[in-house]
This record gives sequence, structure tokens and C-alpha cells, in this order.
Amino acid sequence: MATKSELTQQLGVVVGFDDPRADLEQYRTPPELAAHLVHTADLQDDIDGRLVLDLGCGTGMLALGSALRAPARVVGLDIDPGPLGLARENERRVASTAEVSWVRGDATQPSLNPQADTTVLMNPPFGAQDGNEHADRGFLESTSDLADVSYSIHNAGSSGFIESFAGEHGGELTHAFQAQFELPRAFDFHTTDTREIEVEVFRIEWN
Ligand SMILES: C[S@@+](CC[C@H](N)C(=O)[O-])C[C@H]1O[C@@H](n2cnc3c(N)ncnc32)[C@H](O)[C@@H]1O
Repeated sequence: MATKSELTQQLGVVVGFDDPRADLEQYRTPPELAAHLVHTADLQDDIDGRLVLDLGCGTGMLALGSALRAPARVVGLDIDPGPLGLARENERRVASTAEVSWVRGDATQPSLNPQADTTVLMNPPFGAQDGNEHADRGFLESTSDLADVSYSIHNAGSSGFIESFAGEHGGELTHAFQAQFELPRAFDFHTTDTREIEVEVFRIEWN
């Protein structure tokens, strides 16, 4: 297995959104965080030989991180067709050998059939910007139907919500970690060149 820092380097070629949409919270998950999440999932045996779904795949960062390990198959799904083209280009850049499909669809109403041995990786919209707190709820609802294990990135302070959501949907929160990253200015309403985002990442087992 390649190291986490090797994976970070491999993901460094993943290009960000050309024309990001604020309403869809389009920003690239940083390679360091994506590599940390995928490496942790791989150490837990949650990638090897499994179907990996990246809900709200955007540039394809999380899908491609898992495609660089040994999944059975990877599917990236996004509601916006623009990033799916970019994700395809990024797939060529990382040159992974795993089978990867890019699907346009709504992650809150996915037209995917649940299959055994499915891992969801996702960095869903938080809804924090527009006051639509827990916009990630719909993504988690789909995940509880589709996956037997998931890794998801949420804004800081989500642990109470995640724990009770998991409990109410037959899930168990098994691991959590915090991370920070800087995002470059992308939208007109950003007042500084970079902004620091604090997030929490959760592993949930679904029954
Ligand atoms: C924070 S970005 C994800 C970033 C992605 N991990 C990456 O590194 O590029 C959130 C993504 O969710 C997508 N999205 C928002 N609402 C969605 C929905 N209802 N169904 C599917 N995708 C959605 C956005 O288009 C965006 O690409």
C-alpha cells in the first residue's frame, strides 16, 4: 500500500472547479485531507475489493483517491454535469487503473441500487452559508440506504447531530477526527484571499 504522503502527492494533480457554484458549495477537498480519509478507510479494510461511492464527487478527489487503492469499482455522483467532465479529466491525470464511473444525479434521491460491500466517501454541502443548516442530512439519508460503512466530512460542531442521526438510522459512529484547511477565495462574497475551514470527519457503520 502506498503511504499517505504518496497518495497526497498523487492527488495533487487533481484540478479544482473552473467556475464553482456557491449554491452547490463547490470547492475541491484538499489532497491532504482526501488522502488522510482514504488512507484511514483503507487501513480499516473499507476500500479493498469494495464498491466505493463518492456522493457529490465534484472534481472526483475522493473517488480518485480510492481508485488509487484496490477497490472493486468506484462511482462518483454529482448533480452538476460541469464537474463530471472535470472529474473525467482528473481521472486521466491520476492514471488510476480501477474501474471508475461518473454519474449525474441527486445524491439526496440517488437512482443507485444498494449493493453489498459498499463504502460511501463524501464531502457534502454543509448548508452553513445560506442558513440551510444540515444540508448534509439528505446525503446521510441516502448513505444509510446505500452503504454499510461511510466516511463523511462535515462542518465543525456536527458530532452531536451525526451521533443522533446515526442512532436514529441504524448506524453506529465508530471513529471521528478533526481537520482544518485553507480554501482560496472562490466567490464574490468571500472577503479575504483565503479562509480557514474547520471540519470533522466521521466513520459510521450502517446496519
Ligand atoms: C464540497 S463539494 C465536494 C467536493 C469534492 N469532494 C471535490 O473534492 O471536488 C460538494 C459537491 O456536492 C455537489 N452537490 C451539491 N448538491 C448535490 C446534490 N443534491 N446531489 C449531488 N451532488 C450535489 C456539488 O456540485 C459539489 O460538487
